[in-house]
Amino acid sequence: MAVRPIVLYGDPVLREKAAPVGKIDRTIKNLVADMIATLKHANGLGLAAPQVGESFRIFIIDISALDLTESVRVFINPEILETSGEVVMEEGCLSFPGIYQKVQRAERVRVRATSLEGKEFTLSVSGMLARAILHEYDHLEGKLFIDFISPVSRALLSGKLRKLAATAQL
Ligand code: NI
Repeated sequence: MAVRPIVLYGDPVLREKAAPVGKIDRTIKNLVADMIATLKHANGLGLAAPQVGESFRIFIIDISALDLTESVRVFINPEILETSGEVVMEEGCLSFPGIYQKVQRAERVRVRATSLEGKEFTLSVSGMLARAILHEYDHLEGKLFIDFISPVSRALLSGKLRKLAATAQL
């Protein structure tokens, strides 16, 4: 398990559509182990593979800091089956350090994915877990949370975003 550098806004990998995972082999297992180490190190709630520069359809979520019954969840080749409701909440992203914005998302989600053990599962959730799933899923489609904020908020953020993108180029 190794902590990997987190890719920042401005890196083109964050805008790619990630590739499906074929066999869950040693390489994929190592990647997931590294993602877990990286997420814990960053004290984040979720991390998608493109955020460590690997354009694969994998994300992990760990909301155990907010809900003690939770532990790290791994989603491989996830599919969003259904969403309902809507709710506005403030969100951040490890690829946008220091930036928090209100984003409207579905309140409930039904998702199907494959576990690290290769088993398919379906999950119906709401609240923080649903929000995290939708945010991380977007990463696999090359979408970022700033895509959903108002033009006014976007304009107010433009300076910060330019600075972040400039850092990402270094
Ligand atoms: Ni994110």
